[in-house]
Amino acid sequence: MPSLLIVNAEVVNEGRRFEADVLVQDGRIAAVGPDLQGRPAERVLDAGGRLLLPGMIDDQVHFREPGLTHKADLQSESRAAVAGGITSFMEMPNCKPPTLDAERLAAKCARAAEVSRANYAFYLGASNDNIDAIRSLPVGDACGVKVFMGASTGSMLVDDPTVLDAIFRDSPVLIATHCEDTPTILANEAKYRERYGEDVPMEAHPLIRSEAACLKSSTLAVELARRHDARLHVLHLTTARELALFEPGPVAGKRISVEACVHHLYFDERDYADKGALIKCNPAIKRAEDREALLAAVAEDRIDVIATDHAPHLLEEKDGTYFQAPAGLPLVQDALPSLFHHVHAGRLSVEQVVRKTSHAVAECFNLQERGFIREGYWADLVLVDASSPVERTRDQVLYKCGWSPFEGRELGARIIATLVNGEVAYENGRVDDAVRGRRLAFGPTR
Ligand code: DOR
Repeated sequence: MPSLLIVNAEVVNEGRRFEADVLVQDGRIAAVGPDLQGRPAERVLDAGGRLLLPGMIDDQVHFREPGLTHKADLQSESRAAVAGGITSFMEMPNCKPPTLDAERLAAKCARAAEVSRANYAFYLGASNDNIDAIRSLPVGDACGVKVFMGASTGSMLVDDPTVLDAIFRDSPVLIATHCEDTPTILANEAKYRERYGEDVPMEAHPLIRSEAACLKSSTLAVELARRHDARLHVLHLTTARELALFEPGPVAGKRISVEACVHHLYFDERDYADKGALIKCNPAIKRAEDREALLAAVAEDRIDVIATDHAPHLLEEKDGTYFQAPAGLPLVQDALPSLFHHVHAGRLSVEQVVRKTSHAVAECFNLQERGFIREGYWADLVLVDASSPVERTRDQVLYKCGWSPFEGRELGARIIATLVNGEVAYENGRVDDAVRGRRLAFGPTR
Protein backbone atom coordinates (compact mmCIF):
# COMPACT_ATOMS: atom_id res chain seq x y z
CA MET A 1 0.00 0.00 0.00
CA PRO A 2 1.61 3.34 -1.03
CA SER A 3 2.53 5.75 1.74
CA LEU A 4 0.86 9.16 1.77
CA LEU A 5 1.79 12.45 3.38
CA ILE A 6 -1.02 14.93 3.97
CA VAL A 7 0.44 18.42 4.44
CA ASN A 8 -1.08 21.77 5.52
CA ALA A 9 -4.12 20.28 7.23
CA GLU A 10 -6.25 21.81 9.98
CA VAL A 11 -6.64 18.65 12.06
CA VAL A 12 -9.71 18.40 14.32
CA ASN A 13 -9.34 15.64 16.84
CA GLU A 14 -10.13 14.90 20.51
CA GLY A 15 -11.44 18.40 21.18
CA ARG A 16 -8.48 20.19 19.60
CA ARG A 17 -7.97 22.00 16.33
CA PHE A 18 -4.42 22.49 15.07
CA GLU A 19 -2.31 22.81 11.95
CA ALA A 20 -0.47 19.60 11.18
CA ASP A 21 0.78 17.13 8.61
CA VAL A 22 -0.25 13.48 8.76
CA LEU A 23 1.88 10.59 7.51
CA VAL A 24 0.07 7.42 6.48
CA GLN A 25 1.96 4.14 6.08
CA ASP A 26 0.63 0.60 5.62
CA GLY A 27 -2.93 1.84 6.02
CA ARG A 28 -2.30 3.36 9.43
CA ILE A 29 -1.47 6.76 10.85
CA ALA A 30 2.31 6.74 11.24
CA ALA A 31 2.80 10.30 12.49
CA VAL A 32 0.88 13.51 13.21
CA GLY A 33 2.96 16.63 13.62
CA PRO A 34 3.73 20.20 12.69
CA ASP A 35 6.58 19.63 10.25
CA LEU A 36 6.61 16.22 8.59
CA GLN A 37 7.24 17.72 5.17
CA GLY A 38 10.67 16.17 4.76
CA ARG A 39 9.41 12.64 5.45
CA PRO A 40 9.50 10.32 2.43
CA ALA A 41 6.12 9.31 0.99
CA GLU A 42 4.95 8.00 -2.37
CA ARG A 43 2.27 10.67 -2.59
CA VAL A 44 1.92 14.11 -1.03
CA LEU A 45 -1.60 15.51 -0.69
CA ASP A 46 -1.77 19.25 0.00
CA ALA A 47 -4.80 19.87 2.22
CA GLY A 48 -4.56 23.60 1.54
CA GLY A 49 -5.48 24.46 5.13
CA ARG A 50 -8.77 22.56 4.98
CA LEU A 51 -10.21 20.51 7.83
CA LEU A 52 -8.93 16.97 8.31
CA LEU A 53 -11.23 14.85 10.48
CA PRO A 54 -11.46 11.21 11.49
CA GLY A 55 -13.93 9.61 9.04
CA MET A 56 -17.57 9.42 10.08
CA ILE A 57 -18.60 6.05 11.54
CA ASP A 58 -22.29 5.59 10.77
CA ASP A 59 -23.88 3.19 13.25
CA GLN A 60 -27.19 2.91 11.43
CA VAL A 61 -27.65 2.25 7.70
CA HIS A 62 -29.96 0.12 5.57
CA PHE A 63 -28.09 -0.98 2.44
CA ARG A 64 -30.85 -3.45 1.38
CA GLU A 65 -28.72 -6.45 0.45
CA PRO A 66 -29.81 -9.20 0.14
CA GLY A 67 -33.30 -9.15 -1.29
CA LEU A 68 -34.14 -5.48 -1.78
CA THR A 69 -31.38 -4.61 -4.22
CA HIS A 70 -33.71 -2.74 -6.57
CA LYS A 71 -33.50 0.04 -3.94
CA ALA A 72 -29.82 -0.15 -3.01
CA ASP A 73 -26.94 -2.55 -2.46
CA LEU A 74 -23.68 -2.76 -0.55
CA GLN A 75 -21.64 -1.56 -3.52
CA SER A 76 -23.79 1.41 -4.56
CA GLU A 77 -24.38 2.74 -1.07
CA SER A 78 -20.82 2.23 0.18
CA ARG A 79 -19.66 4.31 -2.82
CA ALA A 80 -22.07 7.06 -1.76
CA ALA A 81 -20.88 6.69 1.84
CA VAL A 82 -17.21 7.32 1.04
CA ALA A 83 -18.23 10.27 -1.16
CA GLY A 84 -19.93 11.61 1.97
CA GLY A 85 -16.90 11.18 4.26
CA ILE A 86 -18.22 8.00 5.92
CA THR A 87 -15.40 5.50 6.30
CA SER A 88 -17.22 2.81 8.33
CA PHE A 89 -20.84 1.71 8.57
CA MET A 90 -22.94 -0.65 10.68
CA GLU A 91 -25.78 -2.15 8.68
CA MET A 92 -29.29 -3.14 9.73
CA PRO A 93 -30.93 -6.58 9.49
CA ASN A 94 -34.29 -5.76 7.82
CA CYS A 95 -33.26 -7.02 4.39
CA LYS A 96 -34.77 -10.09 2.68
CA PRO A 97 -34.38 -12.57 4.22
CA PRO A 98 -33.75 -10.72 7.48
CA THR A 99 -30.41 -11.24 9.25
CA LEU A 100 -31.63 -13.47 12.07
CA ASP A 101 -28.86 -16.03 12.44
CA ALA A 102 -25.08 -16.48 12.32
CA GLU A 103 -25.19 -17.91 8.81
CA ARG A 104 -26.91 -14.87 7.29
CA LEU A 105 -24.62 -12.58 9.22
CA ALA A 106 -21.58 -14.37 7.78
CA ALA A 107 -23.04 -14.18 4.26
CA LYS A 108 -23.42 -10.40 4.55
CA CYS A 109 -19.84 -10.02 5.77
CA ALA A 110 -18.58 -12.13 2.87
CA ARG A 111 -20.51 -10.01 0.36
CA ALA A 112 -19.24 -6.77 1.93
CA ALA A 113 -15.64 -8.04 1.72
CA GLU A 114 -16.17 -8.39 -2.04
CA VAL A 115 -17.83 -5.06 -2.81
CA SER A 116 -17.80 -2.55 0.06
CA ARG A 117 -15.68 0.58 -0.41
CA ALA A 118 -16.02 1.44 3.30
CA ASN A 119 -15.35 -0.58 6.47
CA TYR A 120 -18.34 -2.59 7.59
CA ALA A 121 -20.15 -4.43 10.36
CA PHE A 122 -23.66 -5.87 10.60
CA TYR A 123 -26.32 -6.15 13.27
CA LEU A 124 -27.96 -9.44 14.12
CA GLY A 125 -31.73 -8.88 14.04
CA ALA A 126 -34.00 -9.95 16.87
CA SER A 127 -37.35 -11.62 16.30
CA ASN A 128 -39.97 -13.18 18.55
CA ASP A 129 -38.25 -16.55 18.07
CA ASN A 130 -34.46 -16.28 17.61
CA ILE A 131 -33.33 -15.89 21.23
CA ASP A 132 -30.99 -18.88 20.84
CA ALA A 133 -29.16 -17.19 17.95
CA ILE A 134 -28.79 -14.05 20.10
CA ARG A 135 -27.54 -15.96 23.14
CA SER A 136 -24.89 -17.81 21.14
CA LEU A 137 -23.61 -14.77 19.22
CA PRO A 138 -19.83 -14.47 19.73
CA VAL A 139 -18.70 -10.97 20.77
CA GLY A 140 -17.30 -9.27 17.67
CA ASP A 141 -19.37 -11.21 15.13
CA ALA A 142 -21.96 -8.39 15.08
CA CYS A 143 -21.84 -4.73 16.11
CA GLY A 144 -25.00 -5.34 18.11
CA VAL A 145 -28.47 -6.89 18.23
CA LYS A 146 -31.14 -4.76 16.56
CA VAL A 147 -34.56 -4.88 18.20
CA PHE A 148 -37.53 -3.31 16.46
CA MET A 149 -39.63 -2.49 19.54
CA GLY A 150 -41.92 -0.75 17.03
CA ALA A 151 -42.83 -2.04 13.59
CA SER A 152 -41.20 -0.27 10.64
CA THR A 153 -40.00 -1.29 7.17
CA GLY A 154 -40.06 -5.12 7.05
CA SER A 155 -41.72 -7.39 9.57
CA MET A 156 -39.28 -7.57 12.45
CA LEU A 157 -41.42 -6.36 15.34
CA VAL A 158 -40.48 -7.93 18.68
CA ASP A 159 -43.58 -7.51 20.83
CA ASP A 160 -43.57 -10.63 23.00
CA PRO A 161 -42.81 -9.31 26.52
CA THR A 162 -41.14 -12.57 27.58
CA VAL A 163 -38.83 -12.47 24.58
CA LEU A 164 -37.97 -8.79 25.13
CA ASP A 165 -37.12 -9.57 28.72
CA ALA A 166 -34.91 -12.47 27.65
CA ILE A 167 -33.07 -10.35 25.06
CA PHE A 168 -32.26 -7.64 27.62
CA ARG A 169 -31.22 -10.26 30.17
CA ASP A 170 -29.11 -12.46 27.89
CA SER A 171 -27.77 -10.53 24.89
CA PRO A 172 -23.98 -10.88 24.94
CA VAL A 173 -23.59 -7.67 22.91
CA LEU A 174 -24.99 -4.12 22.74
CA ILE A 175 -28.75 -3.92 22.11
CA ALA A 176 -29.83 -1.22 19.63
CA THR A 177 -33.53 -0.40 19.67
CA HIS A 178 -36.06 1.23 17.38
CA CYS A 179 -38.55 2.64 19.89
CA GLU A 180 -42.14 3.37 18.79
CA ASP A 181 -45.16 1.73 20.39
CA THR A 182 -47.04 -0.10 17.63
CA PRO A 183 -50.50 -0.32 19.32
CA THR A 184 -50.45 3.48 19.83
CA ILE A 185 -49.54 3.99 16.16
CA LEU A 186 -52.23 1.60 14.91
CA ALA A 187 -54.89 3.39 16.99
CA ASN A 188 -53.74 6.76 15.56
CA GLU A 189 -53.78 5.37 12.03
CA ALA A 190 -57.36 4.18 12.49
CA LYS A 191 -58.38 7.63 13.73
CA TYR A 192 -56.85 9.40 10.75
CA ARG A 193 -58.24 6.85 8.28
CA GLU A 194 -61.71 7.44 9.65
CA ARG A 195 -61.27 11.18 9.13
CA TYR A 196 -59.47 11.28 5.76
CA GLY A 197 -59.90 7.84 4.18
CA GLU A 198 -56.78 7.03 2.15
CA ASP A 199 -55.96 10.75 1.66
CA VAL A 200 -54.25 11.32 4.98
CA PRO A 201 -51.97 14.38 4.59
CA MET A 202 -48.24 13.76 5.05
CA GLU A 203 -48.26 16.40 7.83
CA ALA A 204 -50.13 13.86 9.97
CA HIS A 205 -47.15 11.50 10.06
CA PRO A 206 -45.67 12.94 13.30
CA LEU A 207 -49.14 12.81 14.88
CA ILE A 208 -49.67 9.19 13.88
CA ARG A 209 -46.12 8.11 14.74
CA SER A 210 -46.56 10.33 17.75
CA GLU A 211 -44.50 11.63 20.62
CA ALA A 212 -46.56 9.40 22.95
CA ALA A 213 -45.72 6.32 20.86
CA CYS A 214 -42.01 7.14 21.04
CA LEU A 215 -42.01 7.91 24.75
CA LYS A 216 -43.89 4.75 25.73
CA SER A 217 -41.50 2.52 23.84
CA SER A 218 -38.23 4.24 24.81
CA THR A 219 -39.36 4.27 28.47
CA LEU A 220 -39.85 0.50 28.28
CA ALA A 221 -36.43 -0.01 26.66
CA VAL A 222 -34.72 2.01 29.41
CA GLU A 223 -36.65 0.12 32.13
CA LEU A 224 -35.63 -3.24 30.68
CA ALA A 225 -32.00 -2.14 30.37
CA ARG A 226 -31.92 -0.95 34.00
CA ARG A 227 -33.58 -4.14 35.23
CA HIS A 228 -30.95 -6.33 33.58
CA ASP A 229 -27.99 -3.94 33.51
CA ALA A 230 -27.96 -4.41 29.74
CA ARG A 231 -25.92 -2.27 27.35
CA LEU A 232 -28.68 -0.36 25.55
CA HIS A 233 -28.28 2.03 22.62
CA VAL A 234 -31.52 3.80 21.67
CA LEU A 235 -31.55 4.68 17.98
CA HIS A 236 -32.84 7.84 16.28
CA LEU A 237 -34.40 9.84 19.10
CA THR A 238 -36.91 12.41 17.79
CA THR A 239 -38.66 14.12 20.71
CA ALA A 240 -37.75 16.60 23.42
CA ARG A 241 -39.79 14.64 25.98
CA GLU A 242 -37.74 11.46 25.65
CA LEU A 243 -34.50 13.32 26.44
CA ALA A 244 -35.17 13.12 30.19
CA LEU A 245 -34.64 9.35 29.97
CA PHE A 246 -30.94 9.88 29.22
CA GLU A 247 -28.00 11.32 31.14
CA PRO A 248 -25.65 14.06 29.94
CA GLY A 249 -21.91 13.32 29.96
CA PRO A 250 -19.24 11.37 28.12
CA VAL A 251 -20.39 8.15 26.46
CA ALA A 252 -17.48 6.10 27.81
CA GLY A 253 -18.88 4.11 30.71
CA LYS A 254 -22.57 4.79 30.00
CA ARG A 255 -24.76 1.69 30.09
CA ILE A 256 -27.53 3.50 28.22
CA SER A 257 -26.63 5.63 25.22
CA VAL A 258 -28.70 7.39 22.59
CA GLU A 259 -28.38 8.42 18.98
CA ALA A 260 -29.85 11.25 16.90
CA CYS A 261 -29.96 11.23 13.10
CA VAL A 262 -28.97 13.97 10.70
CA HIS A 263 -32.43 14.38 9.13
CA HIS A 264 -34.10 14.83 12.53
CA LEU A 265 -31.57 17.56 13.27
CA TYR A 266 -32.10 19.29 9.91
CA PHE A 267 -35.78 19.01 8.94
CA ASP A 268 -38.92 19.67 10.99
CA GLU A 269 -42.67 19.43 10.45
CA ARG A 270 -42.71 22.60 8.29
CA ASP A 271 -40.75 20.69 5.64
CA TYR A 272 -43.60 18.23 4.89
CA ALA A 273 -45.27 20.98 2.81
CA ASP A 274 -42.35 21.04 0.39
CA LYS A 275 -40.88 17.54 0.67
CA GLY A 276 -43.96 15.40 1.42
CA ALA A 277 -43.31 11.63 1.39
CA LEU A 278 -39.62 12.24 0.59
CA ILE A 279 -39.07 12.98 4.28
CA LYS A 280 -41.50 10.35 5.58
CA CYS A 281 -39.46 8.18 7.93
CA ASN A 282 -39.86 6.22 11.16
CA PRO A 283 -39.69 7.63 13.74
CA ALA A 284 -41.21 10.70 12.11
CA ILE A 285 -39.62 14.12 11.72
CA LYS A 286 -41.40 16.14 14.38
CA ARG A 287 -41.81 19.76 15.57
CA ALA A 288 -39.26 22.57 15.35
CA GLU A 289 -39.13 22.53 19.18
CA ASP A 290 -38.10 18.88 19.09
CA ARG A 291 -35.37 19.56 16.53
CA GLU A 292 -34.08 22.45 18.66
CA ALA A 293 -34.06 20.29 21.80
CA LEU A 294 -32.19 17.51 19.99
CA LEU A 295 -29.51 19.94 18.83
CA ALA A 296 -29.15 21.30 22.38
CA ALA A 297 -28.90 17.72 23.70
CA VAL A 298 -26.10 16.96 21.25
CA ALA A 299 -24.23 20.00 22.50
CA GLU A 300 -24.60 18.95 26.17
CA ASP A 301 -23.61 15.32 25.49
CA ARG A 302 -27.01 13.94 26.42
CA ILE A 303 -27.23 12.62 22.87
CA ASP A 304 -24.15 10.52 22.42
CA VAL A 305 -23.79 9.87 18.70
CA ILE A 306 -25.06 11.16 15.36
CA ALA A 307 -25.85 8.72 12.57
CA THR A 308 -27.95 8.60 9.40
CA ASP A 309 -30.50 5.74 9.38
CA HIS A 310 -29.83 5.83 5.62
CA ALA A 311 -32.94 4.04 4.29
CA PRO A 312 -33.31 4.35 0.52
CA HIS A 313 -36.53 3.80 -1.42
CA LEU A 314 -37.25 4.49 -5.08
CA LEU A 315 -38.99 7.71 -6.10
CA GLU A 316 -41.76 5.60 -7.69
CA GLU A 317 -42.31 3.91 -4.33
CA LYS A 318 -42.44 7.27 -2.53
CA ASP A 319 -45.00 8.52 -5.05
CA GLY A 320 -48.05 7.09 -3.32
CA THR A 321 -50.63 7.94 -0.68
CA TYR A 322 -49.65 8.43 2.95
CA PHE A 323 -50.21 4.75 3.68
CA GLN A 324 -48.47 3.50 0.51
CA ALA A 325 -45.30 5.59 0.61
CA PRO A 326 -42.53 3.66 2.42
CA ALA A 327 -40.66 5.34 5.28
CA GLY A 328 -36.98 6.19 4.95
CA LEU A 329 -34.53 8.64 3.41
CA PRO A 330 -31.19 8.13 1.61
CA LEU A 331 -28.60 10.11 3.59
CA VAL A 332 -25.02 8.81 3.71
CA GLN A 333 -23.65 11.08 0.97
CA ASP A 334 -24.95 14.29 2.57
CA ALA A 335 -24.89 13.50 6.28
CA LEU A 336 -21.55 14.97 7.34
CA PRO A 337 -21.93 18.03 5.05
CA SER A 338 -25.42 18.61 6.52
CA LEU A 339 -23.95 18.83 10.03
CA PHE A 340 -21.77 21.75 8.97
CA HIS A 341 -25.00 23.65 8.40
CA HIS A 342 -25.32 23.65 12.22
CA VAL A 343 -21.67 24.63 12.55
CA HIS A 344 -22.22 27.71 10.37
CA ALA A 345 -25.38 28.53 12.35
CA GLY A 346 -23.33 28.49 15.57
CA ARG A 347 -25.26 25.51 16.99
CA LEU A 348 -22.44 22.96 16.97
CA SER A 349 -18.66 23.26 16.88
CA VAL A 350 -16.56 21.23 14.46
CA GLU A 351 -15.05 19.52 17.51
CA GLN A 352 -18.55 18.42 18.60
CA VAL A 353 -19.37 17.14 15.11
CA VAL A 354 -16.17 15.07 15.18
CA ARG A 355 -16.96 13.70 18.63
CA LYS A 356 -20.53 12.69 17.72
CA THR A 357 -19.76 11.20 14.30
CA SER A 358 -16.52 9.44 15.12
CA HIS A 359 -14.91 9.39 18.61
CA ALA A 360 -18.14 8.67 20.50
CA VAL A 361 -19.32 6.04 18.03
CA ALA A 362 -16.04 4.16 18.46
CA GLU A 363 -16.38 4.36 22.26
CA CYS A 364 -20.06 3.42 22.25
CA PHE A 365 -19.43 0.18 20.32
CA ASN A 366 -15.93 -0.51 21.69
CA LEU A 367 -14.69 -0.32 18.12
CA GLN A 368 -10.99 -1.15 17.88
CA GLU A 369 -8.31 1.18 16.45
CA ARG A 370 -10.64 3.59 14.69
CA GLY A 371 -12.51 6.81 15.37
CA PHE A 372 -9.50 8.96 16.33
CA ILE A 373 -6.51 10.49 14.56
CA ARG A 374 -3.92 8.63 16.64
CA GLU A 375 -0.61 7.14 15.69
CA GLY A 376 -1.06 3.40 15.08
CA TYR A 377 -4.79 3.68 14.36
CA TRP A 378 -6.23 2.89 10.93
CA ALA A 379 -6.03 5.92 8.63
CA ASP A 380 -9.76 6.58 8.15
CA LEU A 381 -9.72 10.28 7.36
CA VAL A 382 -11.85 12.90 5.64
CA LEU A 383 -10.74 16.18 4.14
CA VAL A 384 -13.53 18.74 4.28
CA ASP A 385 -13.96 22.18 2.74
CA ALA A 386 -16.31 24.02 5.08
CA SER A 387 -15.49 27.50 3.79
CA SER A 388 -18.78 28.01 1.96
CA PRO A 389 -22.26 26.45 1.76
CA VAL A 390 -23.02 24.01 -1.07
CA GLU A 391 -26.31 23.15 -2.74
CA ARG A 392 -27.04 19.48 -3.37
CA THR A 393 -28.07 18.79 -6.94
CA ARG A 394 -29.44 15.48 -8.20
CA ASP A 395 -26.77 14.95 -10.87
CA GLN A 396 -24.10 14.22 -8.22
CA VAL A 397 -26.19 11.73 -6.23
CA LEU A 398 -24.56 8.28 -6.07
CA TYR A 399 -27.37 6.32 -4.38
CA LYS A 400 -28.96 3.60 -6.48
CA CYS A 401 -32.33 5.26 -5.86
CA GLY A 402 -30.98 8.42 -7.52
CA TRP A 403 -32.34 11.18 -5.27
CA SER A 404 -31.52 13.04 -2.07
CA PRO A 405 -33.83 14.76 0.42
CA PHE A 406 -31.33 17.64 0.50
CA GLU A 407 -31.87 18.59 -3.16
CA GLY A 408 -32.45 22.33 -3.35
CA ARG A 409 -31.23 22.73 0.23
CA GLU A 410 -27.99 24.05 1.59
CA LEU A 411 -25.26 21.80 2.96
CA GLY A 412 -22.54 23.35 5.07
CA ALA A 413 -19.50 21.69 3.51
CA ARG A 414 -18.04 19.74 0.62
CA ILE A 415 -16.12 16.49 0.99
CA ILE A 416 -12.80 16.82 -0.84
CA ALA A 417 -11.24 13.42 -0.12
CA THR A 418 -11.91 10.32 1.97
CA LEU A 419 -9.26 7.81 3.06
CA VAL A 420 -10.30 4.31 4.09
CA ASN A 421 -7.50 2.33 5.76
CA GLY A 422 -5.00 4.76 4.24
CA GLU A 423 -6.31 4.42 0.68
CA VAL A 424 -7.89 7.36 -1.12
CA ALA A 425 -11.39 5.95 -1.65
CA TYR A 426 -12.86 9.25 -2.86
CA GLU A 427 -11.29 12.42 -4.20
CA ASN A 428 -12.74 15.46 -5.99
CA GLY A 429 -15.94 13.82 -7.18
CA ARG A 430 -14.46 10.42 -8.05
CA VAL A 431 -14.78 7.13 -6.15
CA ASP A 432 -11.82 4.77 -6.54
CA ASP A 433 -13.58 1.50 -7.26
CA ALA A 434 -10.47 -0.56 -6.53
CA VAL A 435 -10.61 0.27 -2.80
CA ARG A 436 -12.19 -2.23 -0.40
CA GLY A 437 -13.08 -1.68 3.24
CA ARG A 438 -12.28 -4.05 6.10
CA ARG A 439 -14.48 -5.73 8.64
CA LEU A 440 -14.76 -3.70 11.85
CA ALA A 441 -13.37 -5.26 15.04
CA PHE A 442 -15.12 -4.82 18.41
CA GLY A 443 -14.25 -5.44 22.02
CA PRO A 444 -16.89 -6.48 24.58
CA THR A 445 -19.78 -4.10 25.37
CA ARG A 446 -22.02 -6.16 27.67
O1 DOR B 1 -37.81 5.26 8.15
C1 DOR B 1 -37.33 4.15 8.34
N1 DOR B 1 -36.94 3.36 7.34
N2 DOR B 1 -37.22 3.70 9.61
C2 DOR B 1 -36.88 2.41 9.86
O2 DOR B 1 -36.86 2.04 11.00
C3 DOR B 1 -36.62 1.48 8.78
C4 DOR B 1 -36.19 2.19 7.58
C5 DOR B 1 -36.21 1.30 6.35
O3 DOR B 1 -35.63 0.21 6.40
O4 DOR B 1 -36.78 1.70 5.33
